[in-house]
Amino acid sequence: MAYLRLVATSAFGIESVVAKELRDLGYDNLETENGKVTFPGDFTDAVRCNIHVRTAERILWEVAKFEAKDFEELFQGTRAVHWEDFLPQNAKMHVTGKSIRSTLYSVPDCQSIVKKAIVEAMKRKYRKNWFEEDGPLFRIEISLLKDTASLTIDTSGAGLHKRGYRTAGGEAPLRETLAAAIIKLSRWKADSVFADPLCGSGTFPIEAALIARNIAPGMNRGFIAEEWPFIPKKVWKTAREKARAEISDSIPAIFASDIDTKVFNKARDNAANAGVSDCIVFQKKPLAEFSTRKKNGFLIVNPPYGERIGDIQEAEKIYRELGNLYEKLEGWSFFIFTPHEHFQEHFGRKANKNRKLYNGKIKCYLYHYIG
Ligand SMILES: C[S@@+](CC[C@H](N)C(=O)[O-])C[C@H]1O[C@@H](n2cnc3c(N)ncnc32)[C@H](O)[C@@H]1O
Repeated sequence: MAYLRLVATSAFGIESVVAKELRDLGYDNLETENGKVTFPGDFTDAVRCNIHVRTAERILWEVAKFEAKDFEELFQGTRAVHWEDFLPQNAKMHVTGKSIRSTLYSVPDCQSIVKKAIVEAMKRKYRKNWFEEDGPLFRIEISLLKDTASLTIDTSGAGLHKRGYRTAGGEAPLRETLAAAIIKLSRWKADSVFADPLCGSGTFPIEAALIARNIAPGMNRGFIAEEWPFIPKKVWKTAREKARAEISDSIPAIFASDIDTKVFNKARDNAANAGVSDCIVFQKKPLAEFSTRKKNGFLIVNPPYGERIGDIQEAEKIYRELGNLYEKLEGWSFFIFTPHEHFQEHFGRKANKNRKLYNGKIKCYLYHYIG
């Protein structure tokens, strides 16, 4: 199969986590930049990464990279790609674009030039002037950065955070990919206890359970590239069967609780959908009542932030309760994810480490308190 350049896109701040996951899956020659990790592979690797990678947002296939300072260079560079080798003649082409610090700044113009050049390339093979576009979808992106054009095709479709288990969200559910990245950053291993006493829709406990049982996050969902004729269906089937065979039977000790009954019931439903109900002990209770005799566990939470005055005071009370809990639990490490700038003052102690991460566009911090 063809040798490709694959791009795993990610939220800002977690590129190194994505790179580590890719290395653990056996990939090397990784190039890490802002919001993406590029690496060589083939279509089987694109399939494998879509199914297995927990922390990336999408897996793209970079079909070309070239300098384009004017429309002619963009047109010729795009037309030089052998699109006709992989786009069926009824391919539905959806071209999007972005331009950062580049001479070609009109994104709609770049998109139509790219589309025109692809159609020209297809005419080479199919010898017709009109293409129906009623077949499989190809989401093509032209991205210009400092006059370098990169043409990518999305192999994922819906973002990889859509695992398929969350039919119900809480008030402010975390992205599954970000939750998995935070757990990876904590270095939690399944032989330690895990607790999220502010669990909301259960994203942290469910992602922890999937990691502990080695359940591939994309095993039970579909991908846009499954419709492409040049990737045999068997490649997807084999990758899913292999992922299923790698699931471990071990049952980790994961505790999840929340004060809100409605939210809490959703968390339980989500865990059932993810097939990890047997790994998580759910309890409905306030944070202040959380207690355990277990030692050296990991507590990973994203507490409420609070937008209005009353809510902010309520949120700060929770930060103080978390600080009290840290004093009581022997050897436990706490990882707290919040956009609050003065969290440490309310918690009552300075974090051992503090990492800046983005939750969408919101700047947040992951405060590490090492047990
Ligand atoms: C930001 S949300 C957590 C979102 C969660 N990580 C998710 O992905 O869905 C904070 C949660 O804390 C819960 N909460 C607020 N005050 C609480 C308290 N005193 N005790 C327990 N849970 C509380 C809320 O019900 C809410 O579900």
